[in-house]
Parts: sequence; structure tokens; C-alpha cells
Amino acid sequence: MEQITRSPEETQALGEKIGRKLREGDVVALIGELGAGKTCLTQGLGLGLGVDPNLYLTSPSFTLIKEYRGRLRVYHIDLYRLNSIKEVYELGFEEYFYGSGVTIVEWADRIETLLPPEHVRIEIEVVSENERRIKLTGQACLTPTSEKNK
Ligand SMILES: Nc1ncnc2c1ncn2[C@@H]1O[C@H](COP(=O)(O)OP(=O)(O)OP(=O)(O)O)[C@@H](O)[C@H]1O
Ligand SMILES: [Mg+2]
Repeated sequence: MEQITRSPEETQALGEKIGRKLREGDVVALIGELGAGKTCLTQGLGLGLGVDPNLYLTSPSFTLIKEYRGRLRVYHIDLYRLNSIKEVYELGFEEYFYGSGVTIVEWADRIETLLPPEHVRIEIEVVSENERRIKLTGQACLTPTSEKNK
């Protein structure tokens, strides 16, 4: 799936739509340059996951991870300040990637090899000041064929 959004609100709305489809154990890998809209999209994912909208999701500044409670547990990891991959091990990333919550990772390309093979991948490309090209791949784009055929 590929889509162009033309405002932060549109990106957030797309995130919300995706967030509603996320399930236990899903890992969302967000990839895109500085200011692409990863956090903006994450806020939408949070809404779609039923996180209290008053708890506006912001990037964790002093920790790598923030935890929220929606219809599932939501872990928001931001690797922007990551100094070494060692910190991800110290964080106990497996617990998040292979647990029952939903884990959203900004700058996921920094830990490409540690990502679980099955993940939802969202690449955000800056097209112009207000336009973003958002490409969604993986996790059968959230509509597993095995379910469709049931
Ligand atoms: N279509 C759009 N979608 C998302 N954000 C947009 C769009 N158009 C403009 N913006 C602006 O781009 C910025 C995106 O910021 P955001 O913090 O979400 O990016 P980020 O990828 O998380 O950056 P960082 O790498 O610093 O964490 C905001 O200032 C937002 O207003
Ligand atoms: Mg961010």
C-alpha cells in the first residue's frame, strides 16, 4: 500500500486506520528521515489502538521507550538517540518484539537485523513541505490472506 498524505492530520488519520488493525504481538517499524512524520503517525497508531487521546504520544526524550495502555499494551521505542546496539539488548527488546503488546519503533532501520522477520513496515518519504509518501509493507499489509479465505 502506498499513499500520499498532505497534512499532519492526514498522516495521523492514516495511522489511526492502521492502528485499529493492529493485533497482539505486532511490531511496527517506522522508517524515515528527521521530521518525516514518524511521531505524527505514531500518534495516530495510538489513537487506533485506543490509547487515551489526552496522553498525546510524544517521543521519549530521556529513555528509549515509553509504555501506554490501550486495548493492548503499546510500547513506543524511539532509537534516534541510540548510541550503540548494546542499549537495545540492555532494554530487553525481545520482551517487546516477541511479547503480547504492540511495539512501535521509530528509526527501526538502525536495528534492522534485530527486527522480527514478521513486522509491519512503514516508510515515510518527504515529498514536499506538507506532502509525505507513506509506504506500507509486511504483515500482509494487515489483512492476512489466511483470514480472508476463512
Ligand atoms: N503530510 C504530513 N505528515 C506528517 N507530518 C507532516 C506532514 N506535512 C508536514 N508535516 C510536519 O512534519 C513534521 C513531522 O514531525 P514528526 O515529529 O512526526 O517527525 P519524525 O519523523 O518523528 O521526526 P524525528 O526524526 O525528529 O523523530 C511536523 O512538524 C509536521 O507538522
Ligand atoms: Mg519522532
